[in-house]
Amino acid sequence: MRSAEQPDPDERASPAGPASEWWRNGVVYQIYPRSFQDSDGDGVGDLPGITSRLDHLAWLGVDALWLSPIYPSPLADSGYDVADYTAVDPAYGTLADFDHLLAAAHARGIRVLLDLVAAHTSIEHPWFREHPDWYVWADDGPPNNWRATFGGPAWSLDRESGRWYLHSFYPEQPDLDWRNPEVREAIAGVVGFWRGRGVDGFRVDAVERMVKDSRLRDDPPAVEPFPFPLHPEHAELRHAHSRNDPEIGLALAALRDAAGDAVLVGEVYLPNDELGPYLEHLDVAFTFDFLHSPWEAGPLTRAISSAAVLERVAWVLSNHDFGRIASRVPAGAARAAALLLLTLPGAAFIYQGDEIGMVDGPGAGTPSDRFGRDAYRHPMQWEPQPDAGFSSGRPWLEPVDPARVSVAAQCEDPASMLALYRRLIALRRELGAGSRLLAADPGLIAFERGEHVVAVNLADEPLPPPASGEPVVATAPIGGDGAIPPQAGVVLRGDRGG
Ligand code: NOJ
Repeated sequence: MRSAEQPDPDERASPAGPASEWWRNGVVYQIYPRSFQDSDGDGVGDLPGITSRLDHLAWLGVDALWLSPIYPSPLADSGYDVADYTAVDPAYGTLADFDHLLAAAHARGIRVLLDLVAAHTSIEHPWFREHPDWYVWADDGPPNNWRATFGGPAWSLDRESGRWYLHSFYPEQPDLDWRNPEVREAIAGVVGFWRGRGVDGFRVDAVERMVKDSRLRDDPPAVEPFPFPLHPEHAELRHAHSRNDPEIGLALAALRDAAGDAVLVGEVYLPNDELGPYLEHLDVAFTFDFLHSPWEAGPLTRAISSAAVLERVAWVLSNHDFGRIASRVPAGAARAAALLLLTLPGAAFIYQGDEIGMVDGPGAGTPSDRFGRDAYRHPMQWEPQPDAGFSSGRPWLEPVDPARVSVAAQCEDPASMLALYRRLIALRRELGAGSRLLAADPGLIAFERGEHVVAVNLADEPLPPPASGEPVVATAPIGGDGAIPPQAGVVLRGDRGG
């Protein structure tokens, strides 16, 4: 037996419970802090607001929450331009508010992940002037043809020094040079700071951009389209040298060292078959093949099978960067999408509001995000009233349709999207480990999870189930003959052995 002085290595100090790779099958809820809950009436969501809504997450049954950036930022990229990695933006609160949120989440058994935006800083981060050698520079104009993700060249002139700096995203986001050991040390310090406060892990931003070609060679023209959406100018080149460098391990090993057993979730914007080197150091990586797959059985099944072999992918269908799932699939299919997301083997990420079927909005009259992503960032809809229960002041972005969609209207309704999410999250714990894709009608996605079979019908006609069994969850009424309606999904508990 272990003595009191010898804690079980599988037990984390956090009251949130055992650390033992909970993320392998964990459900993580993404909070976009600006739009979740405002507590002080300034129209901007904040940390005390999030704390006040933790019971919603506990009721849903999620294992963890991920906070999009909460750090001080001039907001050129909605907080993904960090001006101070070890503080909280005053719009969101204070470090004490953060500690309180963390403790309140842990008290509910919910782990907390932060967004680690370490490929670049804000141009207003003091490092940019104090440590120019932590960034990537060229003296005589742009040294290559690299393009920035949001359009335009990836090099801009710094008028103060007369030199050119690299930025993979907006010009206000200069890239850090991860080949410089001091950068690795500085970010390790940031990771240590938050770990010391008790955070459980990090979603690591733009990982494939952290290390680039050391010779800064030109990217060749793209001969085939990149499989995911890109800005048209950015898509003209094949990003052979401006991202996804074979030496990425030097950055990720440093992060892994600093993170210890805190979970590292990679935002690696690459196809499944290129995630291998990243998963040597990260615990898990989002699968963008799945997120960007057309809503058709064939492509989705291919995305699922190429991700499933990696074993450590995070399934995701919406986030703050792309259209919400309910706006991307045919009417009614968002329920089937939820069933698919939450029954696949591995970590699953839910974007705030998807659990009530929120749709994209019109964005702001004067865009907050120059790249047009406001539409996916409208406030969370808690109540059916015009302010959605989000803020007593004027919301920074208007709620979309709270009279139609809200937590309050759905939480008592067993047929609601919200009830479906909750039921699916609970059911996950009963699904067997691993999965096996089943041969089925071309309109169906079907796989086995132990004694259970999951089937989603993407055809426009009812289809027979791929196996016999008792429906334990269905997103629409199943016919007397067991046929699955179009755009519906079902989890069957198999007759075999069960
Ligand atoms: C990915 C983030 O999700 C996105 O919002 C941001 O613009 C880029 N990385 C740059 O940090």
